[in-house]
Amino acid sequence: MQEKYLNIKLKLKRNKEFILIEYKYKKRSYDERPMALDVLLQAQEEKYDDLAFRYGCRARNCGVCTIDVNDRPKLACRARVKEGDILSAMATLPVIKDLVVKRDAITRQLKGYNNISHKNDLNKDADNSYHNLTACIECYACLDGCPIHAKNNIVDIQNNVAYKYGNPYSLLKIQRLLIDPLTPEIEKTQLIDKAKSLGLEIYRREYKNLKIKCGVGINLKGEVIKPLLDVAFGDEVEKENQ
Ligand code: SF4
Ligand code: FES
Repeated sequence: MQEKYLNIKLKLKRNKEFILIEYKYKKRSYDERPMALDVLLQAQEEKYDDLAFRYGCRARNCGVCTIDVNDRPKLACRARVKEGDILSAMATLPVIKDLVVKRDAITRQLKGYNNISHKNDLNKDADNSYHNLTACIECYACLDGCPIHAKNNIVDIQNNVAYKYGNPYSLLKIQRLLIDPLTPEIEKTQLIDKAKSLGLEIYRREYKNLKIKCGVGINLKGEVIKPLLDVAFGDEVEKENQ
């Protein structure tokens, strides 16, 4: 017979320390396979009313609910959990409290570059590769396994500062501006320089073994990294990886 409860572990940051607690999720039906977010919402409602986590749309649109499920980043509103799973804050960003991470040092990386094009969201002249990249929901799941982001010291990041080294998300933003027909030619050079200053060179060296995964299925290697490497370093990448 199926159990009525699901034991889920929550790894939380409280008073600068990590604690592990176990929550008994009460299933709404015997065969329910709840999302991680269902567990968090019930735990907050029933037992831990100070439990801190983020969510918004509950429909894979806003990207703010990302947590680690068994040490891998997942959207909490879309990740089904099973007996014994461990929910924790994303390991790739500093934890503020419980499951809430500090995100601003990533967004700040492109300060000064966000106004380059004229912000025509419908952008009818752009081709599919541009529109594919607009699917990014800023969930930051792609920080996991990124050799560039791994070079940042995330623990000691100061307020109002951006991380020195980039990540697939920041490079996706750059690539999207590069292929946006509204971006003036002269500003494309600045964008390529920006990608290089964020550590693009590291992807050039590690391209073959790169294992980065997008939370919503964007082909990051093929549609972001490869085109950026091509435009920044030309065919040398091909030769180096043969
Ligand atoms: S590129 Fe994908 S994984 Fe990275 S922030 Fe955007 S949606 Fe999330
Ligand atoms: S709550 Fe918006 S993507 Fe999960």
